Amino acid sequence: MIREDEDKIYVCRCEEVTVGDVRRAIEAGADSIRDIKLRTHAGMGVCQGMTCRKNIERMLREKKIDPDACHTSQRFPVRMVQLGELARLVKEEQHE
Ligand code: FES
Repeated sequence: MIREDEDKIYVCRCEEVTVGDVRRAIEAGADSIRDIKLRTHAGMGVCQGMTCRKNIERMLREKKIDPDACHTSQRFPVRMVQLGELARLVKEEQHE
């Protein structure tokens, strides 16, 4: 169970969304991971929810809400790619 004084703890570090932000979204009617994402941007950061999704699911379950009630697709985390690396891949494809 999450206590009131935990409201300022980040649940999504990438988007700087706190436990309080998610709690308020749930109190305002958010009823799925997707809904939380749309209201707070939690899960839309660089890691694409790899870090925060489980915690948000747990918060929804504590409120007796099925986090999977609405289908959400999870995307792969963003990763930097050097332009030189892309250019090398294009050259390799051209030589095949
Ligand atoms: S911690 Fe939430 S998107 Fe990365």
